[in-house]
Amino acid sequence: MILALAIGYAFGSIPFGLVLARLGGKGDVRKIGSGNIGATNVLRTGSRWLAALTLVLDCLKATAAILLVENLFDRQIAPFAAFGALIGHLYPVWLRFRGGKGVATFLGVLIPLIPAAAIIYAAAWVMLLLTIRISSVAGMAAAVSAPITAAIIGNDKLLPMLLGFAVLILWKHRENILRLKAGTEPRIGKGKD
Ligand code: G3P
Repeated sequence: MILALAIGYAFGSIPFGLVLARLGGKGDVRKIGSGNIGATNVLRTGSRWLAALTLVLDCLKATAAILLVENLFDRQIAPFAAFGALIGHLYPVWLRFRGGKGVATFLGVLIPLIPAAAIIYAAAWVMLLLTIRISSVAGMAAAVSAPITAAIIGNDKLLPMLLGFAVLILWKHRENILRLKAGTEPRIGKGKD
């Protein structure tokens, strides 16, 4: 159980956005835009490729941790790896616990644990990104969709954890929520984005 948590945390706490932006010669992504280490802020460095890679790796690190734990131990303890991975991404010890906002990593948790919720999550995320073009709104809506889907399909076992993840992700977006209220939240593909 502890090992599953530790494996999850080790994978989840890899700050791909920060590492890739540095390797790509874009400097410290925490010093631009929202200061976040996620794909949206990497996109603000001007590199779509680095942003796409950040998105994929931030997602798959959670999937990889869960699959590894399932193979090493038992499917029953996979949720511990999921918990470790999301907490690792949100609060990485390497960055003094100042991590990302968890939207891509939450998707990576859902892919192996509840594929149906992953499909709805990804669909909601992409649809909102393409229509309203505000990354935080799309991400928060996707995060909220996961416990709703779990409740609808009757996955009572994972529901409390998914609810907790959605709340944590909303909490991580508190500055975005303030910007949304003030009407200053940037849209993807406009201005500094
Ligand atoms: O996934 C992060 C996104 O929801 C918001 O990113 O950089 O606009 O705060 P950002």
